[in-house]
Amino acid sequence: MPGLGWGADYNPEQWPEHVWAEDVELMRRAGVNLVSVGIFSWAKIEVSKGEYRFGWLDRVLDLLHAGGIRVDLATATAAPPPWLTTAYPEMLPVRADGVRLSHGSRQAYCPSSPIYRDRATALAAEMASHYRDHPALAAWHVGNEYACHVKRCYCDTCAASFRDWLSSRYTLDQLNDAWSTAFWSQGYTDWSQILPPRVTPTFSNPGHVLDYDRFSDDAILELYKAERDVLKMITPDVPVTTNFMVNWTFGALDYWKWAREVDFVSNDHYTESQSPDRHVELAMSADLVRGLAGGEPWLLMEHSTSAVNWQPRNIAKLPGEMRRHSFQHIARGADGALFFQWRQSRGGGERYHSAMVPHAGTDTKVYREVCQVGAELGQLTGVAGSTVDAPVAILYDFQSGWALQQDAHPTQDFDYFKHVFGYYKALWESGVTVDFVAPGTNLSAYSMVVVPAFHAVSDAHAAVVADYVAGGGHVVVTYLSGVADEHLRIRLGGYPGAFRDVLGVWSEEFFPLRQGETVSLSDGSTVSLWTEHLHVRTADIVASYVDGPLPGVPAVTRNAFGNGVAWYVACDLDGSGLRRTVENALSGAGVPVSAQRIEHSGIELVRRKGDVSWLFAVNHTDTDAQIEASGVDVLSGAQVSGRLTVRAGDVVVLREEV
Ligand code: GLA
Ligand code: ZN
Repeated sequence: MPGLGWGADYNPEQWPEHVWAEDVELMRRAGVNLVSVGIFSWAKIEVSKGEYRFGWLDRVLDLLHAGGIRVDLATATAAPPPWLTTAYPEMLPVRADGVRLSHGSRQAYCPSSPIYRDRATALAAEMASHYRDHPALAAWHVGNEYACHVKRCYCDTCAASFRDWLSSRYTLDQLNDAWSTAFWSQGYTDWSQILPPRVTPTFSNPGHVLDYDRFSDDAILELYKAERDVLKMITPDVPVTTNFMVNWTFGALDYWKWAREVDFVSNDHYTESQSPDRHVELAMSADLVRGLAGGEPWLLMEHSTSAVNWQPRNIAKLPGEMRRHSFQHIARGADGALFFQWRQSRGGGERYHSAMVPHAGTDTKVYREVCQVGAELGQLTGVAGSTVDAPVAILYDFQSGWALQQDAHPTQDFDYFKHVFGYYKALWESGVTVDFVAPGTNLSAYSMVVVPAFHAVSDAHAAVVADYVAGGGHVVVTYLSGVADEHLRIRLGGYPGAFRDVLGVWSEEFFPLRQGETVSLSDGSTVSLWTEHLHVRTADIVASYVDGPLPGVPAVTRNAFGNGVAWYVACDLDGSGLRRTVENALSGAGVPVSAQRIEHSGIELVRRKGDVSWLFAVNHTDTDAQIEASGVDVLSGAQVSGRLTVRAGDVVVLREEV
């Protein structure tokens, strides 16, 4: 793309053909330059086995091309048509309780099904051969939000693939050991005895469940790769992506692995519309996606112009909110912001989902704002390709998230994403830009790294954290980290096993709190959810409990280790306590806490740098605010010298003088 992408999923098959020309005309008015086509078109393209109908789609692509709009073309394999699942019901996914799901919604396929895989790769090949030379073709879009509805299938085909997956990793003895099958008489004497973790009388084996998550992730990734490889054979120069789902539901797939398999990372993001912190969560998701992209620009493949249809209360966006959201994503490294979808559906399961053209038509808040932002992004073409620098990283581990979601843990109140979010929010409020990194990443580029609930940790990954501190790095490690190995076996000798030495502490027992119970700390903070009976070895005590089950026991510690510093937060701090701790750690690490803290200015500031520096300033409050900045306000053309006013709810993009 020459500049920033602006557009949507475009589903013309939902509309009579005479609407299509109007669509393209309205897209042009809205500044649309990129649309995703064909994601759910399988039934219209392959009408029966091997019988392909491309005529209608040819006309759609030709119309778009004539309108100057590029196409992110789907391989159309996200929703198998009824003729296929009727002919091969064995390709439908099976739940843990043995119920086989039916067609009638979408994503109705078992990830291990050879039939689905054959038909999907055949369709991908047809699409690639047919559209390889179409001038509108900008990228391939494989699948759609893999694992959105079906991550694990428990059918017999999956059982067989799971056994293959296991036997390529373990001997039977190693498996029994890794899964601690001596507990509850689970010892396996033959591979054929191993099943997917189907419904059992009580708690399943944790190592078994975690390996099934890994297996399922791999099985789905193999599907993506099978289509991608077909596309690469036919159109080697067309970039291939699949839309991730990085958001507050945290991630059913290990996207660190997936990110290596796409030509560019794309993401779908929907805010939790009832949350007052939704714009902060958006920032976190965008930063995590940038991390997945290895710091390179990425594409926001979908977000919403206003309400979504699938939350308990689908709150509409206020005027200006969609604009702020779009700019937040761009500020944090997206080279485009697209929506689900172009025209709001008349029928079907998502007819109440907002779109660029709402049911009411174009004389609407939504379409007007769509046109405004489209025009504005057209003035920002130079931003494309620029990148974001961050002094601090958060180590994010999808697999620890899966592990901590399992049952039979010390508390059911812990939520991995919310926990990470607490730290992210403290950094966001402090005005510090954050990268996200994978377990095992060399951390030396960062002044400080937060390691939240890094629970299922291998020796090798623990060593990377310790080496970073020994070499002068600063870390903040939080509770539940280091407790288990990668098979969820507890590391003995005191929690937090893998990080005891670097943190200079050991913990003899967890003391999770009752629902609603709070405990006070010596530094005035309040703690809920989690405490533990911690002892210091070499660490200094920063704060201790003054009441609750562990009065006098250390709660926050700081340890000099090698040339660096390792903080341990052994409790669940409230917002202000967390802010205080994070800011203390930041100042120890030499990271300036922005004079323009968001809490004081109300303004979120992010810089993208390329040939020039672009300062994005987003005012999330309902009062005007000022910051110190100089440059050219790109959207208004005004020269700014020293003092920039960002009006309530507004966005300013400054080409900075540096
Ligand atoms: C996801 C899907 C879209 C649509 C939207 C609705 O992003 O990819 O097809 O269902 O959710 O929010
Ligand atoms: Zn299956």
